[in-house]
Amino acid sequence: MAAPSNQPVYRATTTAPVNIAVIKYWGKRDTTLNLPTNSSLSVTLSQRSLRTLTTASCSPSYPAEDTLNLNGKPQEIQSSKRTLACLSNLRALRKSLEDADSSLPKLSTFHLRIVSENNFPTAAGLASSAAGFAALVRAVADLYQLPQSPQELSRIARQGSGSACRSLMGGYVAWRSGELADGSDSLAEEVAPASHWPEMRALVLVVSAEKKDVPSTEGMQTTVATSELFAQRVSSVVPERMTAIEDAIRVRDFPKFAEITMRDSNTFHATCLDSWPPIFYMNDVSRAAVRLVHDINRAVGRTVAAYTYDAGPNSVIYYEEKDSELVAGTVKAILGTNITGWDGPFYEPLANLTAPGVA
Ligand code: DP6
Repeated sequence: MAAPSNQPVYRATTTAPVNIAVIKYWGKRDTTLNLPTNSSLSVTLSQRSLRTLTTASCSPSYPAEDTLNLNGKPQEIQSSKRTLACLSNLRALRKSLEDADSSLPKLSTFHLRIVSENNFPTAAGLASSAAGFAALVRAVADLYQLPQSPQELSRIARQGSGSACRSLMGGYVAWRSGELADGSDSLAEEVAPASHWPEMRALVLVVSAEKKDVPSTEGMQTTVATSELFAQRVSSVVPERMTAIEDAIRVRDFPKFAEITMRDSNTFHATCLDSWPPIFYMNDVSRAAVRLVHDINRAVGRTVAAYTYDAGPNSVIYYEEKDSELVAGTVKAILGTNITGWDGPFYEPLANLTAPGVA
C-alpha cells in the first residue's frame, strides 16, 4: 500500500442548473472559439430536479495528468479540445493571481481531478452539456478562487459548449453572439432575474432518455452548410425575436413570450428538416405534445402554455403557476396515460431559479 501523502488537497464543489433556450442557438461562425451565428435566450431551470454536481480538486500529489469522471465513468479529456480550452483558460487566470501574489499556493501547477454527476439522462436533449460545462468552469474557478464575474466566466464556458455560457446565471439569460473575431464580446448576460417573473414554471416531459441520434455540434454544422432556410433565420428572424421576447419578459407578457418561444422552436426544427440529409429530433410523442398545447390554448381561449424542443424529442412546456392545473394537470393526464411508447417520467413543475452554487 502506498504511504499516505501528507501533501495538501485543495477542493471546491458546486452545482449548475440546466437552461432551456426559448430562442435557439443553432450554428457556429467559428468552430475553434465556438462562436455562434446568432444570439439566443434561455430560461434557467430549478436545480431541484435537474442539475450537475461537480467537485474539482488539485494537489501536488496528483500524478500524470488532469482527469474527469462523469457519472462514474472516466472521460478522455486529453483529446477533448473543448475541455482543454476551458482548463487552460482557468489555469492562466489562476497563474496571473499567483504571479501577482507570491504567498498563494501554486495551484496552477498541480493536476486537476474533476468528478461530475448529472441527476438526469445525459445527452438526451436535456442540455446536459450546458449544466456540465457550467459546473466544471464554476467548480475550477471556485477552487482557484478567481475573482471573475459569471459573465467573464461565461466566455470560458462557451468554449466547452455554447449553451453552457447561459447556465452560469439564473433567470432569463441572453447569449449575445458578439461581432469580434476573437470572441471577447460573445458573452452571456442576465436579461432578468428569476424573481422578476416568479410565476413562471416549466414542465419537462422525458419522451426518451436515449442518447440523441445526431449530436448538436454535428447537426448544427450540417444545417449551416446545407439549409436554405438557415440564412434567413440568422439575418432577420432571430434578431427580431430576440428584441420581441426581451420586451415580453420585461413586461411579463406570457402570451407573447409563449408565441415567440413556440415559433422559434418550430423554426429551429424546420431548419433541421431543411438540412441535407434532413435531421429529425422530434418524434410522434413530441408532436402529440405540440398538438396538445395548441388544443389547450384554443380551448381556454388564451395562450397559457408554450412548448419548446432542443436537439432531442423531450418537451419543455412553460406556463404560469396560476395555470398549473390546466396545463401540467392536462398534459400529465393525457400524455401520461394515452400515448403508447411513453417511457419517461415527468419532472415536477420547476420554477426558474438559481445560478451555480451548491444547492
Ligand atoms: C438546440 O450548446 O450543445 O440546445 O456549442 O456544439 O456544444 P455546442 O452545442 P450545444 O447546442 C445547443 C443547441 C440547442 C439550442 C440552445 O440550447 O440554444
